Amino acid sequence: ATVYILNGPNLNLLGKRQPEIYGSDTLDDVNASCAALSEKLGVSVKFMQSNYEGQLIDWIHEARHDAAGIIINPAAYTHTSVAILDALNTFEGPVLEVHISNVHQRESFRHHSYVSQRAEGVIAGFGVQGYDLALRRMASLLAQ
Ligand code: DQA
Repeated sequence: ATVYILNGPNLNLLGKRQPEIYGSDTLDDVNASCAALSEKLGVSVKFMQSNYEGQLIDWIHEARHDAAGIIINPAAYTHTSVAILDALNTFEGPVLEVHISNVHQRESFRHHSYVSQRAEGVIAGFGVQGYDLALRRMASLLAQ
């Protein structure tokens, strides 16, 4: 099974961007860690990042025929994008939402997520380890 791991805006700067909040690992480090774990779990992963809402939506549409599950960190679009929620609602497999930081500990505008309405599960505040945990969970959901 193929799992899409989608990352939203500004996450290309992971490791350089507010490391006190997001840590010092880069998105390439996260990708490498997910790739290594995917082999152990027997799933294949496609790891993607875009700063553009429409690109993320196009990838979600692609996932409809190319992926069994989606792990998504929509970044700031989490809190704004009905369009990403609508796109995820066209996808039939499991969706897991990841946030590196604990959004509930931060500004109140980060407390609401449009995507959570569609996600089977949400991870927040586990740092970049959240991606690995989500991938483990996704593998068990897909094995069911
Ligand atoms: C984030 C949290 C969002 O509020 C923020 O806009 C991000 C990253 C996280 O991973 O903690 O860009 O999704």
